[in-house]
Amino acid sequence: MRILLAISGASGVIYGKRLLEVLSKKEEVDVELVVSEAGKQLIDSELDISFEELTDYPEKVYDPDDLKAPPASGSSKYYGMAVVPCSMSSLSKISNGISDNLITRAASVFLKEDRKLLLTPRETPLTTTWLENMWHLSSEGVTILPAMPAFYEDPESIDDMVDFVLGKILDSLEIQNSLYERWEG
Ligand SMILES: Cc1cc2nc3c(=O)[nH]c(=O)nc-3n(C[C@H](O)[C@H](O)[C@H](O)COP(=O)(O)O)c2cc1C
Repeated sequence: MRILLAISGASGVIYGKRLLEVLSKKEEVDVELVVSEAGKQLIDSELDISFEELTDYPEKVYDPDDLKAPPASGSSKYYGMAVVPCSMSSLSKISNGISDNLITRAASVFLKEDRKLLLTPRETPLTTTWLENMWHLSSEGVTILPAMPAFYEDPESIDDMVDFVLGKILDSLEIQNSLYERWEG
C-alpha cells in the first residue's frame, strides 16, 4: 500500500507529523512524504521537531518543486494520497486543476487515475469560494476530512484530539486502527 503524504502550509502540521509516524509503523504501508515550503515554515513554528528530523520516517521524501518525481506521473503505482493539513491555497488549486508544484500535480494525477485522495482542510471561517471548491472536490470523489476533533470522548490532551482526527483519516484510507474510541451508544 504505497501512500503519498503531503503536508501543506496550514496550521495543524501536528496532524501530518502524527500521521507520518503512524503510517511509517504500519507493515502494509509504504509512506512517502512531500512538504510544501509553507508547510516547512509551519513545522518550524508549530512543532518541536524539525523538517529534517521528520524525513527519518518515510520511505522517500520529495522536493515540492520536483515535478519529475514519481507521484507526478499516472504511470507510477500508488494506493492514495493524503494532504494533511491542507491549506486553502492547495485545496483551491487542486479543485481548479492547477498543478504548479508536486503536491497539486500529484493530487490532479490521483484524481485522473481514480485513486484515493483525502484532504484535511484547516481554516476558519470559510469563504464561499473555499466551500464551493470543497463541494466541487467532493463531487469528484475526493474525501474532505476537516481537522475537526470531537468532544464526546472527553479528550484529556491535545494528543487525544489529534488522534481522533487521525483515526478518522485512517478509517477513510481503510487502514486498521484503534486511535479513537468508537461510539457504542
Ligand atoms: C503562521 C501561518 C499560519 C497559517 N495557517 C493557515 C491555515 O490554517 N490555513 C490556510 O489555509 N492557510 C494558512 N496559512 C497560509 C498558507 O501558508 C499560505 O496560503 C501558503 O501560500 C500555502 O501554501 P501551500 O498550500 O503551498 O502550502 C498560514 C500561514 C502562516 C504564515
